Amino acid sequence: MQIGPHSLPNRLFVAPMAGVTDRPFRQLCRRLGAGYAVSEMVTSRKELWGSLKTSRRADHAGEPGPIAVQIAGTDAAMMAEAAGYNIDRGAQIIDINMGCPAKKVCNKWAGSALMRNEALALEIVEAVVAVCAPRGVPVTLKMRTGWSADERNALRLATLFEAAGIAMLTIHGRTREQGYKGLAEYDTIAAVKAALGIPVVANGDVDSPEKARDVLAYTGADAVMIGRAAQGRPWIFREVSHFLATGEHLPAPTVTEARDVLTEHLHDHYGLYGELSGVRSARKHIGWAVRGLPGGEAFRQHMNTLERCEEQLQALRDWFDELGQTHHRLPPAAVPAANDDEADDMACAAA
Ligand SMILES: Cc1cc2nc3c(=O)[nH]c(=O)nc-3n(C[C@H](O)[C@H](O)[C@H](O)COP(=O)(O)O)c2cc1C
Repeated sequence: MQIGPHSLPNRLFVAPMAGVTDRPFRQLCRRLGAGYAVSEMVTSRKELWGSLKTSRRADHAGEPGPIAVQIAGTDAAMMAEAAGYNIDRGAQIIDINMGCPAKKVCNKWAGSALMRNEALALEIVEAVVAVCAPRGVPVTLKMRTGWSADERNALRLATLFEAAGIAMLTIHGRTREQGYKGLAEYDTIAAVKAALGIPVVANGDVDSPEKARDVLAYTGADAVMIGRAAQGRPWIFREVSHFLATGEHLPAPTVTEARDVLTEHLHDHYGLYGELSGVRSARKHIGWAVRGLPGGEAFRQHMNTLERCEEQLQALRDWFDELGQTHHRLPPAAVPAANDDEADDMACAAA
């Protein structure tokens, strides 16, 4: 798998998720088998580049390359400037966001709303490519299948984008109208893959090794991208990777390993956000990790009462150690790893 000059170790990608795929989470997924990770979206609005949120999103310290930064916006010149700004700060690949359904983004005619204005979408792509190409930086793009069931124009746009110099295209198999509801469809992705020469990445509802295998086979895509199913379960990447290579399932992680992985993640997380903000934003990661496990819901609620890093870490250790007394390996979660309404809310809140 190749993006411009960058070779990737495999074809399993972590989806960009605002408020989730920060540097600590991306590094965690990469360590556990993901071949590629794109940052959460960074706004093209210059006045926000100095904000704490944007500067944290632009922090790539110690991250393995290639460093891919996703930019979002509505104005071609501003998007081009944002691309250059991020290249100056270490971006080796620029990804354009045309997939986010969040109102905050869509009201400003950005994210997936751009798919409705094909001329503007193309203008943005051309402007960003014009800045990136002379610097040897590939431009990739992530979009949905279209605005709505009646306006499913991914194939037409994909052809235009390829001609404009896009190096790789990711398609989430839902329309903007669907948000995160309903099921992803893969026919549009298969049609785009069949029509294009550049790598195409299939995204949407991949939550198991079998699903990854089936989506790759059905779409012919070059890679699959996994988002929500990695929340709290970052080892999904090695599970999928092992299954694709051997046809066999890896055993679930031991409870001790899950505890240690989460503990290490929290240390990195506090390092980026500091105690006050880090303890709060860590709660969602902890909630996902224990979701559906015996006693997980009560523990999640208890977590919300703790305000110090050390308390959070200790509670986590105690909880996993107790679980370890009855289970050697992590038991299967009793509920799906994520639900649609939560995804809608979170994506909007974090955009
Ligand atoms: C909380 C959340 C935040 C997201 N933020 C972004 C984003 O910043 N950029 C983007 O292109 N997609 C974003 N997405 C969409 C995901 O990248 C992905 O396309 C979507 O979740 C479908 O994949 P999945 O079914 O594997 O989760 C977000 C999704 C979620 C749930």
